[in-house]
Amino acid sequence: MMPKPVLALLSLLSIASAAPLATCPGYRVTNVQSGDSYLVADLTLAGTSCNLYSQDITNLRLTVEYQTDTRLHVLISDREQNVYQIQDNILPRPASQNASSQTAHLRFSYEANPFSFKVTRASTGDVLFDTSPSPLIFETQYLRLRTRLPPNPNLYGLGEHSDSFRLPTDGYKRTLWNSEAPYIPQNQNLYGSHPVYFEHRSGGGTGSAPATHGVFLRSAAGMDIMIGRSDSGEQYLEYNTIGGVFDFYFLAGGAAGPEEVSKQYAAVAGLPAMMPYWSLGFHQCKYGWPDLAHVKQVVANYSAAGIPLEAMWGDIDYMDNKLDFSTDPVRYPRDQLREFVQDELHGKGLRYVQILDPGIRYKSDYGPFKRGAEKGVFLKAADGSWYRGLQWPGEVVWPDWIAPQTKEWWTTEILTFYDPNNGIDVDGLWIDMNEASNMCADTTCLSSAQETTRRSVHTNQRPLPSLAARAPGDGQHLGLPNRDLFSPQYRISNHYPSLSSRTLFTNVTNFDTTTQYDTHNLYALTMSSSSHSALLSRSPTKRPFLLTRSTFSGSSRFAAHWFGDNFSSWADYRASIRQLLSFSAVHNYPMVGSDVCGFNGQAQERMCARWAVLGAWQPFYRNHADVSASDQEFYRWEVVKDAARKAVAVRYRLLDYFYTGLYGASKDGTPLVRPLWFLWPEDENTYGADTQFLVGDGLLVNPVVEDDSQTVSFYLPEGVWYDFFSHKRVDHQTGHGGGGQTITVEGVGWDQIPVYIRGGSILPLRLSDASSDSEKGQAMTTKEVRTRNFEIIVAPDANGKASGRLYLDDGESLDSSGRESEIEFGWDGSLGSQGRLEARGTFGYETEVKVVRVVVLGDGVNGGSGERKVEGSWGLMGGFTVDF
Ligand code: GLC
Repeated sequence: MMPKPVLALLSLLSIASAAPLATCPGYRVTNVQSGDSYLVADLTLAGTSCNLYSQDITNLRLTVEYQTDTRLHVLISDREQNVYQIQDNILPRPASQNASSQTAHLRFSYEANPFSFKVTRASTGDVLFDTSPSPLIFETQYLRLRTRLPPNPNLYGLGEHSDSFRLPTDGYKRTLWNSEAPYIPQNQNLYGSHPVYFEHRSGGGTGSAPATHGVFLRSAAGMDIMIGRSDSGEQYLEYNTIGGVFDFYFLAGGAAGPEEVSKQYAAVAGLPAMMPYWSLGFHQCKYGWPDLAHVKQVVANYSAAGIPLEAMWGDIDYMDNKLDFSTDPVRYPRDQLREFVQDELHGKGLRYVQILDPGIRYKSDYGPFKRGAEKGVFLKAADGSWYRGLQWPGEVVWPDWIAPQTKEWWTTEILTFYDPNNGIDVDGLWIDMNEASNMCADTTCLSSAQETTRRSVHTNQRPLPSLAARAPGDGQHLGLPNRDLFSPQYRISNHYPSLSSRTLFTNVTNFDTTTQYDTHNLYALTMSSSSHSALLSRSPTKRPFLLTRSTFSGSSRFAAHWFGDNFSSWADYRASIRQLLSFSAVHNYPMVGSDVCGFNGQAQERMCARWAVLGAWQPFYRNHADVSASDQEFYRWEVVKDAARKAVAVRYRLLDYFYTGLYGASKDGTPLVRPLWFLWPEDENTYGADTQFLVGDGLLVNPVVEDDSQTVSFYLPEGVWYDFFSHKRVDHQTGHGGGGQTITVEGVGWDQIPVYIRGGSILPLRLSDASSDSEKGQAMTTKEVRTRNFEIIVAPDANGKASGRLYLDDGESLDSSGRESEIEFGWDGSLGSQGRLEARGTFGYETEVKVVRVVVLGDGVNGGSGERKVEGSWGLMGGFTVDF
């Protein structure tokens, strides 16, 4: 061990730039065994220990699997298998299909002494990952691996963050340690951890076709990921973790474009849950609604303003003293709340969602605590007592979601309180503060006696035999004993002073003796899984709707996510677009959105109008604000009221387009929202674009992004474009010649947003608002939207062709098989006399809804400029053809 002062100095160096690389010997490869689809080997420390921040682990094991043609798994673990690895029941591993290393798209190669490895794209020889710049360091509490990158790489992901979508590449650090964040500044760790990045290379790295690949580090350890340049100017990305193993999944992408990587990542992290149709409606929430009468008034006000409202949310105000599973007897009397949900919400086709926090009040006569304690469901402090801290209701304990009995207890509490027959009949749940957030800033907020007991033991006390006593490979990945779980020498750049600040102490144990030190980043994932399963027990045949604040890779299997406690500021309005792109395209998270109009601070009229309009284009659309903020429902300002009414109307026409996109994401990981470069991977102008986004592959949304401005400049890639609202071709509108240029639109009203249809797309739109000739007028709920007929908008490309799709089912069944329709639309401007629309597919969903109009936008054939319409009646229970 080095003397402490030297260690401290090294620690500083590592944060400022690269740590001294030459000081550690690295590992030597021995005992290599390989077959067509695998390689295993031993790695042995290649010299004297350097013990940079803790103790070197002498013996490692390397496992390489060619899992599929496009997925390579490289695992570097301790040979004894004691170091913590994420349990398979928390994050299931994808099965290997034993692909052949001869035909796989990625190649693994290594240097034996010191050990380093490369991952190469087989078709071009492009090196995607190369760890040779520095020796591997694998210590008990510090791991480091550096990969060389091309200069100025296009890197995306590594969330959760609010930084630029394309990550900075010089002196940049991403810290992953799930954290409460009272607001969402840049360059800070936020609520979730997604240790995955996509890298896009314009010439495929070798002057060939553009290519994108992905790298997922399956590790829940706290970490800093540095992206920078070495002294010699070489670009690198470097992982610095305080535990776990190096468990990499390399994703090759494919010829179909960057979305192939999204799909390959979804195959590793798990497919996102399909959301209920209603959850695409507009949601209203507020922390601080004083009582039920006020909530009723909000519903009435929305109705009077003519703004469709789908769901009302109950923040912690409904609770009695902020206790989960309780209602305030005076302000939200249980029976009255129950009746309100039943009659005034459900009765009118509206929905209700309530919040639950993981902190359970530590009080002997509080039922959920008592029952939980009897079942032993709470996390334990190092001395074996229930670990206690501070949350909304006061002193609390936290459920141990890893313990099997916790799911049982949580399910029972949910089934009882939310009993549809005599409880609060919610339509979904919102789980919050699950980083887990602890209001104890440090050790001082509870009685000193408790604190002394809890802090008396700083190391892991679980009865693990010493490493020496174990045969190689018999470990269970539960975490090494005898570590400093509070203050590891390598300090990740958590934005709070220590790992345990504002969260659970890192020496707190789960039932299986794993510690928060290793499982911290998984707290919300495991809470989401338990809550999802509780909702399924409540309604076994319906898709659960769950919203979570904290996330990890794979959380989208269970829950939607919002971006947390942003500000009512133009800066955070812009940040919401970057976050949307990262979550949807890279993090395998389709159902996301910001708190519209901002959570903290006072919303301003024009900003709120812009956000109301932008929010209508993000998949999850909820207006929410803090207790200290003024009410900001859309009807409170004239300008916002008008903007929101129109925005929701447009969204509701497009609801099936969004829903079809969500279905695609849940089926194979195709992202719903995409950045421009996903569709124009060869166009370098698109790589840094993060103020505009595509919904599906047909609609490009270009919000005004400057403060208080009515002008927006944005990039329109090569191709034919049509204004979504006027249906005009862009060159007709601007005088420019189509795509591949920056467009400036001036005079964008507060209720407007420039949206363009990509030539080549077909959009199914519901006739759900008054302006679309619907006899029925504006649909006020998603239930009403579902009764409306469709019009099909055909936006031909330069060759007069277009395609699109529509997914239909009952909107709520968990299993829709046999009762769903997947319809493919195709338009060919050279068929029929002037073109033909064909609808083909599978038609299992029974519906009376029809297509009643087909509109072909200008220039599809014969150079015509105007749009052409055919009215008629085409059922959606079989294919059809419409000739023009
Ligand atoms: C947290 C949530 C916020 C919620 C508040 C009260 O700050 O992020 O959305 O309103 O807690 O429950």
